[in-house]
Amino acid sequence: MNQNNTENIQIAPSILAADFSDLGRECQAAIEAGCDWIHVDVMDGRFVPAMSFGAQMVATLRHHISVEMDLHLMIENTDLVIDDYISCRPDRLTVHVESCNHLHRVLTKIKSSGIKAGIALNPTTPASAIAETLAFIDQICVMTVNPGFGGQEFISTQTAKIKAIRDALADRSIHIEVDGGVTEDNAKRIVDAGADVLVAGSAIFHKTVSDRTRHYRDRIQGIRRAISV
Ligand code: DX5
Ligand code: ZN
Repeated sequence: MNQNNTENIQIAPSILAADFSDLGRECQAAIEAGCDWIHVDVMDGRFVPAMSFGAQMVATLRHHISVEMDLHLMIENTDLVIDDYISCRPDRLTVHVESCNHLHRVLTKIKSSGIKAGIALNPTTPASAIAETLAFIDQICVMTVNPGFGGQEFISTQTAKIKAIRDALADRSIHIEVDGGVTEDNAKRIVDAGADVLVAGSAIFHKTVSDRTRHYRDRIQGIRRAISV
């Protein structure tokens, strides 16, 4: 059963869908539009097919993000480069369980740096993968698309996984974040399953609107309205 109060649902626009030639202002527009966190996707073209950007861009974006920066690493060999991303000082740093050889070491390194730690699960990784991590994490990111691209369709079988994780967490204060294919139309179902952080890229950002803050505000408010009914 979902214990979430909809007022506590965090909306985290994913800048993967934003204008890459103007990312600083895109972040600022989403913040002015009332988002809670900004979700920043690092993709290396190896763990996932596409590339986005690396640590240098994340460090630059840090100066443009006054809400919580929620960094999601979709990269191979996370263990080898985690220090580079810790140095960017995100508020939250999520790593994939499928890409860490020594997940405990990576998570405790993030936590001991004063950054909130998250794990992400690909669609076919079972909910049980969280079992030995609960003492070391602040959030679980349930991937509801195969990571690597924005604009994909939500994989509906993941709703049962969100519920299973919510049940397994009991009263622990660990966020369940859902990433991929989130829209105004399915947001309510996702929150009812137990998620309390909604990442949305293509449902919020739009590269060609003239008044982007107004457009992003409408989209964010649309999601908030959808989950509050
Ligand atoms: C996908 C990324 C997501 C992506 C979501 O691999 O992790 O954060 O940007 O985009 P939408 O909301 O368009 O599915
Ligand atoms: Zn993401």
